[in-house]
Amino acid sequence: MSKKVAFLGLGVMGFPMAGHLANDGYDVTVYNRTAAKSQAWAEKYKGKTAATPREAALEAEIVMACVGNDDDLRSVVLGDDGAFSGMGGGTVFVDHTTASADVARELAAAGEGLGIGFIDAPVSGGQAGAENGILTVMCGGDAATFDSVKGAIDSYARAVALLGPVGAGQLTKMVNQICIAGVVQGLSEGLHFAQKAGLDAKQVAEVISKGAAQSWQMENRFDTMVDDKFEFGFAVDWMRKDLGIALVEADRLGTSLPVTALVDQFYGDVQVLGGGRWDTSSLIRRLRQLGLKYKG
Ligand SMILES: NC(=O)c1ccc[n+]([C@@H]2O[C@H](COP(=O)([O-])OP(=O)(O)OC[C@H]3O[C@@H](n4cnc5c(N)ncnc54)[C@H](OP(=O)(O)O)[C@@H]3O)[C@@H](O)[C@H]2O)c1
Repeated sequence: MSKKVAFLGLGVMGFPMAGHLANDGYDVTVYNRTAAKSQAWAEKYKGKTAATPREAALEAEIVMACVGNDDDLRSVVLGDDGAFSGMGGGTVFVDHTTASADVARELAAAGEGLGIGFIDAPVSGGQAGAENGILTVMCGGDAATFDSVKGAIDSYARAVALLGPVGAGQLTKMVNQICIAGVVQGLSEGLHFAQKAGLDAKQVAEVISKGAAQSWQMENRFDTMVDDKFEFGFAVDWMRKDLGIALVEADRLGTSLPVTALVDQFYGDVQVLGGGRWDTSSLIRRLRQLGLKYKG
């Protein structure tokens, strides 16, 4: 018999992730707050739909979730209709939401009392990574629990790693977002400078991406940044959520993230420009639209 799993949250990421599980032969039940998405999923993939997280979780050995933020996660896990109320002892909850390390520890503690294992497992790789089943998954939890769910996660991942106890996956995702923030701003400044200097910015990026300035952001985003196209990708609103989580954690750790804090505010400017759903590479549009005149 195939393994029973439940997937909660069929957004940009969750929809294809749950689809990979179904395509790999798992017996999948999905839940989504907006039921139309569950219906659309069941028309595309083999699997069942449920009206509540609890109902989806009732017979599942593993319950996965990929929702928005800490409170969204609490709302699908806790309470009478929450997944935990339907899960039995020996089952595991895997959270793919990008959330705080605190909420991971809070839910792991709540699960422990019920005999439910918990793995925090935020992902990197974006919509294309989810659709193509090649996400990077950063996990926190104990080794035995991790080993029991790794095979299922492999359905939509290229790399899956356990980085420490519960919360370590979310902390690693924070590092990921901190590293990206400064790079995207630097890339925006470089390409904007190239265009102001009258260079062919695409040719510049093609050349320097073969050298020390190379980055994933440069290789995958220079084209659309030069063309000023941002209606796709990883939304600025989500990035601000992620940077906010990292800034709170840094404060607690007594470390400073000056560039991250600055770029977070630049993303605030992009939101004011109406770009909450634009891809994070839209920092360059902020430079274009500031309309500032500098000396020279
Ligand atoms: N998109 C990316 O490129 C990307 C990359 C890496 C990580 N992530 C992270 O992955 C998570 C999901 O991102 P996404 O792009 O898939 O987001 P999304 O398309 O906006 O989908 C969010 C999902 O969460 C559900 N949801 C939100 N609040 C809920 C609540 N209170 N109760 C129940 N369900 C709720 C939504 O249900 P409805 O359909 O009813 O709204 C939807 O299924 C986020 O934490 C994000 O930061 C995203």
